[in-house]
Amino acid sequence: MHNNIAKVLLSEEEIQKRVKELGRQIHEDYKDKDKIVMIGLLKGAIYFFTDLSLAIDLPLRIDFMVASSYGNSTETSGSVDVRLTCSEKLEGCHVLLVDDIIDSGVTMEAITRLLQRQNPASVKKVALCDKPSRRVNQLNADYVGFEIPDEFVVGYGLDFAGDYRNLPYIGVLKPEAYAK
Ligand code: IMP
Ligand code: MG
Repeated sequence: MHNNIAKVLLSEEEIQKRVKELGRQIHEDYKDKDKIVMIGLLKGAIYFFTDLSLAIDLPLRIDFMVASSYGNSTETSGSVDVRLTCSEKLEGCHVLLVDDIIDSGVTMEAITRLLQRQNPASVKKVALCDKPSRRVNQLNADYVGFEIPDEFVVGYGLDFAGDYRNLPYIGVLKPEAYAK
């Protein structure tokens, strides 16, 4: 375990098992649909997006967006900055928007609204982790891996100021790790 991790919240095994379950569930829900596009929000969704897309046994396209609402702090800034948007044409497509975590809900809401402008057939929101107690809007995800308590977590794509993304588990940082 990394020195700055106080505890492991979700082990590698738990994450992998749950991602496969989500993949099967999405397969069931989408098996009669065509034109499926999975859009991942970089960088945080990278590992979840990759493992989930491999667990969905259906033809689909992948694309990415870069959005951030966070600077280098642990609190949302409230506004969403889109630095790269997807290149796939989404009109008539079934879009699965994938992020690592939903916290305030500001990011997912803003991106969903942006995608709706292209007239997709549907947009569903997928997140590995959800902190419902932190929501500032009415946003509900369609597929959630884990509901977690209000603790700042890192690993499996999630970062603190750019670090810890490549941990294969999700853990809670020691308070002294924030002070640096
Ligand atoms: P929201 O817009 O407040 O819902 O925040 C979503 C984004 O905030 C996610 O894509 C993450 O990048 C980041 N975020 C929220 N909570 C955490 C956390 O506990 N650890 C790391 N990043 C987080
Ligand atoms: Mg993120």
